[in-house]
Amino acid sequence: MGILSIFDKKKKPVLGLDVSSTSVKLLEISQQGDGYRVENYAVRPLPPNAVVEKNINDLEAVSQVVKAVVQSSRTKIKDAAVAVAGSSVITKIIEMPGDLSEDALETQISLEADQYIPYPLEEVAIDFDILGPSAKNPDQINVLLAACRRENVDIRVSMLDLADLKPKVVDVEAYTMERAFALIQEQLEDQEEQVVAIVDIGATMTTLSVLVDGKTIYTREQLFGGKQLTEEIQRRYGLSAEEAGLAKKQGGLPDDYEPEVLEPFKDAVVQQVTRSLQFFFSSSQYNDVDHIVLAGGVAALNGLAGLIEEKLGTSSTVANPFANMSVSSRVNHAALLNDAPALMIAAGLAMRSFV
Ligand SMILES: Nc1ncnc2c1ncn2[C@@H]1O[C@H](COP(=O)(O)OP(=O)(O)OP(=O)(O)O)[C@@H](O)[C@H]1O
Ligand SMILES: [Mg+2]
Repeated sequence: MGILSIFDKKKKPVLGLDVSSTSVKLLEISQQGDGYRVENYAVRPLPPNAVVEKNINDLEAVSQVVKAVVQSSRTKIKDAAVAVAGSSVITKIIEMPGDLSEDALETQISLEADQYIPYPLEEVAIDFDILGPSAKNPDQINVLLAACRRENVDIRVSMLDLADLKPKVVDVEAYTMERAFALIQEQLEDQEEQVVAIVDIGATMTTLSVLVDGKTIYTREQLFGGKQLTEEIQRRYGLSAEEAGLAKKQGGLPDDYEPEVLEPFKDAVVQQVTRSLQFFFSSSQYNDVDHIVLAGGVAALNGLAGLIEEKLGTSSTVANPFANMSVSSRVNHAALLNDAPALMIAAGLAMRSFV
């Protein structure tokens, strides 16, 4: 049923490719006994506005960068896993007769899907996953139906085609984040019934995911990110976007940078996290989370987890999906560790090789 293969269970090694607003990140992970090893990691910046708010605007430019990332990584794998934004996907749990074969179920769902999806069927890609027997009706099963506008899927498939890769998996960022969380869950204390907020602060978008017992119960995207800090640095010190981006990571800015630019930005991050959590509390039965995981490039800012812990009174850590993995000697270990919090989506996609 279309190429949206969120729930495909067949396993084959795939490259995780996170195409975000600022860069393309490639990750290849292999299984070693009962652990994992990072085989390849490469990242390349995207030209400005090639991707805006998760939409691929300039297919030609993006596929060239994908190609360049693959070449620089020297991976041999051609099958790729990519993701669409959670906000472009609708999911519904529907009831179906329990005695249908998988094929019959697929036919039935494709015939009935128009009842559940507010778009013309020819404009969407759909996929489904059997959740289990219905609690209300023992003859029925619950099926999770996911639908995404076909253009979002098609443009990613074209992007991979143009980069000489094969689209193996088109996943949804929220599921990808959940899979990546499984890699860091074991690092947290007190694992049962935990309510964990993952706040992914990228360049332009902040995505809050709330997981209970490792399962996503809530996600929300907001327009906030590290680009705001970069732009402030540009404005104040007359630097190009590239120079400002580098200065942010490597330092070397005038003395007033910390008190007058960085500290206010960190306060804005704390406010954003607070506001995102308030949205969640107001639309759920929860009024607290047990732990906050900071992800995305902005999470790499020194002292941010401590500040959030202090201001919100909730234990906070910075995501590292590779903490329990070994790393191939081909990979620049220091770069991988630096970028680790920004690699949750790429890691969750690369894990589609096994789970
Ligand atoms: N060490 C660092 N210190 C401060 N900021 C950093 C650091 N590393 C990355 N950043 C910032 O993080 C942002 C990029 O993060 P990330 O790679 O998660 O974004 P993205 O996924 O490309 O963006 P989006 O999710 O919005 O599409 C940039 O604004 C970058 O300047
Ligand atoms: Mg991102």
